Amino acid sequence: MILDLRAEARKHAPRLPSLPALRRAARETWRGRMINEHGSGRVFDALVSQLSRAGFDDEDVAECARFAGEERTHGVLCGAVVEALGGEARAPIADPRALPEHRDVSLREAALRNVISSPPRCPRPASDETRLVWEAVSASRSDMLLVREAR
Ligand SMILES: [Fe+2]
Repeated sequence: MILDLRAEARKHAPRLPSLPALRRAARETWRGRMINEHGSGRVFDALVSQLSRAGFDDEDVAECARFAGEERTHGVLCGAVVEALGGEARAPIADPRALPEHRDVSLREAALRNVISSPPRCPRPASDETRLVWEAVSASRSDMLLVREAR
């Protein structure tokens, strides 16, 4: 599978200092970030789908979808840096991984497990940033969601 963010990334064209000795390493670093950020969007997309199927409030699903959109935007912006460094915002990526379905519990509990669980039960999010967002979501939302569950 090829991730191709060239068209979107080229709309940004950030100005960078000329540091030829660092150009190649910087390009590969930002290419990796581009892949990770985009991958984080896919993780949140999968969670959106699971939260929706489980019947969570539209507001909660929409917030998770916003996270996905933000991550995709970050991927484009990282790609813009790759382009500004003389590379292409294009790279092979792995097929998306499905979130665990936890078939032994309700759809809502399964979704919550994926929000709050940590490896090895749940795939590790694609980047440190996603992990931090994931943990923030866990901290701020899981209590609220579990309270709703208890009603
Ligand atoms: Fe991000």
